[in-house]
Amino acid sequence: MNNLVEIKDGKLFFDGCDTTELAKEYGTALYVMSYTEIMNRINELKEQFTDKYENTRIAYASKAFCTEGMYEILKKAGACIDVVSGGELYTARKVGFPAERVEFNGNNKLQKEIDLAVEYGVGRIILDGLQEIPLIENACKKFGKKMNIMIRITPGVAASTHDYIVTGKKDSKFGIPLERDIFLPIVKQVIDSEYLNFTGLHMHIGSQLFENDAFLKALNVLMDWAAIIKKEFNADVKEVNFGGGYGVTYTDEERMPYSFFMDPMMELLQKRADEIGIERPAAVIEPGRSVVAEAGISLYTVGQIKEIPGVRKYVSIDGGMGDNIRVALYQAEYKGVVANKANEATSEKVTLCGKYCESGDILINDMLVPASIEMGDIIALFSTGAYGYAMASNYNNNPIPGVVMVKEGKSAWMVKPQTYEQIIQNNVIPDFI
Ligand SMILES: Cc1ncc(COP(=O)(O)O)c(C=O)c1O
Repeated sequence: MNNLVEIKDGKLFFDGCDTTELAKEYGTALYVMSYTEIMNRINELKEQFTDKYENTRIAYASKAFCTEGMYEILKKAGACIDVVSGGELYTARKVGFPAERVEFNGNNKLQKEIDLAVEYGVGRIILDGLQEIPLIENACKKFGKKMNIMIRITPGVAASTHDYIVTGKKDSKFGIPLERDIFLPIVKQVIDSEYLNFTGLHMHIGSQLFENDAFLKALNVLMDWAAIIKKEFNADVKEVNFGGGYGVTYTDEERMPYSFFMDPMMELLQKRADEIGIERPAAVIEPGRSVVAEAGISLYTVGQIKEIPGVRKYVSIDGGMGDNIRVALYQAEYKGVVANKANEATSEKVTLCGKYCESGDILINDMLVPASIEMGDIIALFSTGAYGYAMASNYNNNPIPGVVMVKEGKSAWMVKPQTYEQIIQNNVIPDFI
């Protein structure tokens, strides 16, 4: 865990705030996001990437955690953002995020989303398939614009992570397969289009990665194709997007500094560009998880405790798969503590389960807790800042919890909790029933 987690008087503190007081003041279930940790990560990215290497950009992958407040932080930090939907575009526009710092990804962008992006004037659209070209051209005609296009490739490299978060292997719904007769006609169409400006290539090989060799292999493949594009069309790849995927600590994983990935990637990029005889392309990265995961903790209140003799003890909380689907979706593992008994010895092994009507609604399978655990205790789960709130659902018509931002002992709402009325606000009863 990061150094913003402390124990004082037996209570868990996060970025200077007593989490048991946060639970009292804001209620549970609750997402808590640390401003300090987010800024630490952004500053690490700047030091080890954008300040160190010229002609580089950080495009935060919004999908990890997208709120107006998060965009405000990134806007002020001078970062770019990667968006993948009309909703993310809308949110960015709402906070006045500079359009040229927005990069639009997605494997099935809808015409109405492309229209939004083109009207807004985003910096780049990352092309993910042949049929997307006329959709972008339609929008360009409509709004009288020419768009910068990067083409997302599927480099055919299998990164070692959970199967659901591998994206760079050959069999993937993302990116364009690197077959000459599929890939090159698409590149040609982009280069020839009066509405499109071919700027470069994009890859994203997977998420929660701790080794750099798959990145380097994929970058080599990408640069092989930059050479082919130069030879076939005399066009330069001016920008390369390495994607995101930099791993974080959930339980015992050892997080690597960004430089562990960036330094060899930048060296390879320069080397390959020299070989091809093009300028070293601009380099862009799209970290999501690694910026926000450890900035988040989730707070819950213990409810029912059920002991099944000889089997296990279930400790139920007032949240679960609706606010954190990652365990059910890809067997993600978390660490947690009883925040109001953080100094007590943890001698009991329990199963931490949610309140949703699925047997798979488990957040931690074997959690060590104090033997005194009881109804009303506050549970804190660590590293829940990425793909938690972002993937939350209203399953069982449970409201999505609010998000509180903390900073050196201060706290404030970032997203207020949903109300029951908001869950059903778009319900309509058809007049024929
Ligand atoms: C295209 C693209 N870029 C960036 C990311 C962010 O990855 P991570 O959150 O692991 O950094 C993803 C995640 O799925 C992605 O699909």
